[in-house]
Amino acid sequence: MEKSIVILAIESSCDDTSAAVICDGILLSNVTASQKVHEEFGGVVPELASRAHQLNIVPVVDTALKRAGVTKDALSAIAFTRGPGLLGSLLVGTSFAKGLALSLQIPLIDVNHLQGHIMAHFVQPEGEALKHPTFPFLCLLVSGGNSQIVKVEGYNKMTIIGQTIDDAAGEAFDKCAKVLGLPYPGGPWIDKLAKSGNKDAFHFAEPNIAGYNYSFSGLKTSFLYTIRDLMKVHGVETVEELTEQIPNLKEDLCASLQYTIINVLMKKLRKAAKDLNINQVAVAGGVSANSGLREAFIDYGKRYKSEVYIPPFSFTTDNAAMICQAGYYKFLDSDFCPIDAVPFAKTKIN
Ligand code: KG4
Repeated sequence: MEKSIVILAIESSCDDTSAAVICDGILLSNVTASQKVHEEFGGVVPELASRAHQLNIVPVVDTALKRAGVTKDALSAIAFTRGPGLLGSLLVGTSFAKGLALSLQIPLIDVNHLQGHIMAHFVQPEGEALKHPTFPFLCLLVSGGNSQIVKVEGYNKMTIIGQTIDDAAGEAFDKCAKVLGLPYPGGPWIDKLAKSGNKDAFHFAEPNIAGYNYSFSGLKTSFLYTIRDLMKVHGVETVEELTEQIPNLKEDLCASLQYTIINVLMKKLRKAAKDLNINQVAVAGGVSANSGLREAFIDYGKRYKSEVYIPPFSFTTDNAAMICQAGYYKFLDSDFCPIDAVPFAKTKIN
């Protein structure tokens, strides 16, 4: 009988410490420790993130192995997120992965975090029937740091055909949420408030950028100016005073903002799919948790008779299952990395 391929993956690119185990392509465990320490600062504090990773990494890996029911001696290789991300955070996962691989004398596999997000569509949890895309497909990759349209032609063959020239979609959500005094990260708060708001209440500037690229900085400014003008008209000094005066204002602003961001994202995706004649589209990254965006994908599928792929919630934000899946394919290709590989903060997808 052939020996099973058992991969342990470690993800530590930002503020989630995560470990996952895949055996012969089936996900056995996926454990994530999130960091609450950043909430009071309104954003991720890199130094605090690396310290929290140091505290979390051993218990997270230990729990992932136990939940999977495997011992470290059964591991075939260790996959880890090499970048892009916060360097101090990446260093914790990278160093841990190297140490473990060296001590067990097994190969090390480096995974690009963005490719990992796309590979979330191929994760196969034990006992669950999930639909996976076939090649080629277009993936809208939207997170706190990226907004891209990626043409995916193979597990390891991906080309960015469009991307943001300034802010990412998640950044636009988070920055506008901050203006409204919502906690960090603001995306999920906007999503929640938007549900009881009117999407047509406000009209924000939509960017006019060539090709398949995005831009969200103008939209952010338009949002800010709308609030500033309202404050002037109502003679108030703060957003709190304004929202007290105008019923349902926060909800309406959130609904209109979310509608505009989704509209911008979907228009370019449609243009790319039409031009390239690709009838499978997927969404990935933290913003793919957004309920409006998920609905927009379902509508897209019906309207354009396209196959659409929306990841389960657990694989939208940073997680090691997606890194493990990418690592599994690299293992099958014997695509290993040297022990002196260093993490990187910024990169292209391939
Ligand atoms: O991929 P991710 O977990 O982390 C990185 O960017 O590395 O994405 C985080 C982003 C944040 O900007 C967050 O506000 C956004 O995803 N996000 C959402 C929602 N859930 C998370 N944005 C809009 N609606 C949501 N439900």
